[in-house]
Amino acid sequence: MIVEGKAKIKLAEGVFYNPKMTFCRHLDVLAYKVISESEGKVRSLDALSATGVRGIRARLEAGFIPTFNDKNPKAVELIRENLKLNGIEAEVFNRDAVALMRENRFTHIDLDPFGSPAEFIDTACVSALKYLSVTATDTAALCGSAPVAGLRKYAIYAEKTEFYPELGLRTLIGKIVREATKYDKAIEVLVSWAKEHYYRVHLKLRRSVALAGKIYEKVGYLFYCFECGNREWVPMDGSSLERCKCGGKFKMIGPLWLGELHDKNFVTRMIERVDEMEVTDSVKEKLEKFLRSILDEIDVPFAYTTHHLAKMLKVSPPQVLRIVEELRKAGFRASRVHYSGFGFKTDANIDEVKKIVLALNA
Ligand SMILES: C[S@@+](CC[C@H](N)C(=O)[O-])C[C@H]1O[C@@H](n2cnc3c(N)ncnc32)[C@H](O)[C@@H]1O
Ligand SMILES: [Zn+2]
Repeated sequence: MIVEGKAKIKLAEGVFYNPKMTFCRHLDVLAYKVISESEGKVRSLDALSATGVRGIRARLEAGFIPTFNDKNPKAVELIRENLKLNGIEAEVFNRDAVALMRENRFTHIDLDPFGSPAEFIDTACVSALKYLSVTATDTAALCGSAPVAGLRKYAIYAEKTEFYPELGLRTLIGKIVREATKYDKAIEVLVSWAKEHYYRVHLKLRRSVALAGKIYEKVGYLFYCFECGNREWVPMDGSSLERCKCGGKFKMIGPLWLGELHDKNFVTRMIERVDEMEVTDSVKEKLEKFLRSILDEIDVPFAYTTHHLAKMLKVSPPQVLRIVEELRKAGFRASRVHYSGFGFKTDANIDEVKKIVLALNA
């Protein structure tokens, strides 16, 4: 048996549990606390429950009303035991998640599959009335390091770039948007992050024919030049771009989510709740630090990395903080990124960024 947050969880042979995702589940609890605050009691489906840890924590720590489901009968047996152990009464299904979601509606759905969420997203967009949380661990398909898998799973074309974790998040969110709008639902990103081997997104859904059309202003294609590192992007409105200004050929990557990757107000409210968490002080510190790194990140696609710039310019990589400082001094917006110590974002273009990197090397 293990203890995670306020939950006691029994483990069993043949039922999935990954202790490395505990930090992710702490962050999820914080997101659910904020959602509860505006929604009251949230009817939630933990669609792929395994031990039931997510739904149980959502109940105990954020006041959600969870329903559990897993196609594995062993998992269902364990979920029932874990519910008893934590004094919770809840509905538990032993169904295929897609069939269950097609037949039922929930305020919130959590999709936490092993690997790709692709097969569940369409139906989750039918079933989720207001909120949708999705994990993906098939990062290679999403971030461009496995382009054919990206085509198969997400119908996107991507290649590996220096900002691949951000690309992965934008691919995943873009895919969810394209599934949701069929059902006249638009999305807002509450918070999203790329960490270790996985991506996680928490979205708000808005039912509106008008918004479901308008959301495509925030979905589009990245035109990336592998010669000079230039990046430009256009919405899905038929626009296209010719050659890069350096003479190199653009690669067209997408379709991708080009909108916000987090809602500042939502993340601020998550941070305000860190102190309520049933975790050690050092975990609290880590949670706050991580959330602050998300909060501080400016909402401009697409990030740069110091080593990629240094390689292109054949100079040594400057410190990220120095570049951010210099960019700000020059009047640009700039910040670090939450998923790496070598990345930064700015509204300066590639030539302006290169100029600063060279100046720092002089
Ligand atoms: C990664 S585990 C879930 C982990 C859990 N949410 C946690 O935080 O520990 C994925 C679970 O989904 C279940 N599963 C896979 N495909 C499914 C399907 N089509 N319908 C229902 N359950 C499914 C598996 O049996 C497995 O228990
Ligand atoms: Zn170029």
